[in-house]
Amino acid sequence: MRKLLGAGGFAALAALGCMGGAQSAPAKSLVEEAKGHFQPLPSLPTGAAAGLRAELGRRLFYENRVSADGNVSCGHCHQADLAATDGLPKAIGVNGKENPRNAPSIFNASLNFKQHWRGDRESLEEQAEKSPTGAVSYGNPDFAAVVAKLKAVPGYADLFAQAFPGEGDPINQKNWGVAIAAFERTLLTPSRFDAFLKGDAKALTPKEQAGLQKFISLGCVSCHNGPLLGGNSFQKFGVQEDYWKETGSPKPDKGRFDVTKSDADLYVFKVPQLRNVEKTAPYFHDGSVAELPKAVKIMGKVQLGEELKDEDVAAIVAFLDSLTGPVPANYPPLPSLPDAPK
Ligand code: HEC
Ligand code: HEC
Repeated sequence: MRKLLGAGGFAALAALGCMGGAQSAPAKSLVEEAKGHFQPLPSLPTGAAAGLRAELGRRLFYENRVSADGNVSCGHCHQADLAATDGLPKAIGVNGKENPRNAPSIFNASLNFKQHWRGDRESLEEQAEKSPTGAVSYGNPDFAAVVAKLKAVPGYADLFAQAFPGEGDPINQKNWGVAIAAFERTLLTPSRFDAFLKGDAKALTPKEQAGLQKFISLGCVSCHNGPLLGGNSFQKFGVQEDYWKETGSPKPDKGRFDVTKSDADLYVFKVPQLRNVEKTAPYFHDGSVAELPKAVKIMGKVQLGEELKDEDVAAIVAFLDSLTGPVPANYPPLPSLPDAPK
């Protein structure tokens, strides 16, 4: 752990009064300390065009008629009552096909520096454009098949024309991606932790504050930082030992190595965000761990070489629970889609 904490880390320990000699200087408050590592979520995008596109994107997000079997939409695997995940170790797509990885939450995903566990999608737009032709998601042979199905639903012509005014043929792959991404950008979930970072020290209970302190002093924060407590770097899963020895993953995923073919990327994954993490079980890229305390313990062991005590795990889990925000009011599906049967 020590090598992950730079000089700043030791200053942090000193500021928390964990080291000798800290009594002389006034201790930095935990709020101030936290502000050095994390930021509150930004405010929502505004503007009329953003609004119309996001509304269209909300419909498209739940539009299962464009999948090969008529049953799959984004909402199939990113469900409102499961913090935009599906509760499964690995997502199940068209015709019951299993995905190679776990479905992460899309709440706050607009702030990820790349998309997907292995960072193989640059943006929300690219992610949305490619999903409908995924063999284990929507199962369409090409995007033309998606456009044809959208055009067969009369209501979409007007909705696309309003969201993309002045375009001759607005029902196309690019606009599908733009509309869905505009919707996803509205899905931020501020929580009590944001209030804490904005100066309200009482927004976190003493136990949650103790967990936050542990999270910082142990060095979790070296990878899980910023507004999402993650989502901003690639790191090896298994810094101290092979991850599958702890997770029990039957077939280790080589991570970003399979995308770049570079040895430096073996078992490297995007550090996932921790917002809403108490609601996004099961954990890790393969959904191999069902319980959050166990996931935290494994992180201590394989990333930091620390055997965490149960009480520290409990405090960290309490802190992580403070990262849960309400489901955005505009997330659940609208009562009906254009021309959907009543
Ligand atoms: C069959 C289930 C399934 C469907 C349908 C699906 N997803 Fe996903 N989604 C996943 C899985 C699994 C991943 C992780 C893929 C990976 O990392 O390899 C993912 C990842 C993502 C991510 C990246 C999140 C992150 O933290 O990296 C976004 C954004 C996303 N999906 C949005 C969408 C949108 C938009 C649609 C509809 C156009 C969609 N998904 C349809 C299962 C699904
Ligand atoms: C060296 C970087 C690093 C450090 C240090 C680190 N993590 Fe992680 N964390 C990761 C990566 C990478 C993953 C994704 C692993 C995977 O599934 O491929 C992850 C995953 C997680 C997950 C699972 C999230 C999910 O949605 O599945 C939790 C919870 C977590 N970390 C908490 C912690 C805690 C608590 C600590 C400190 C005890 C910690 N991490 C230390 C890099 C790190």
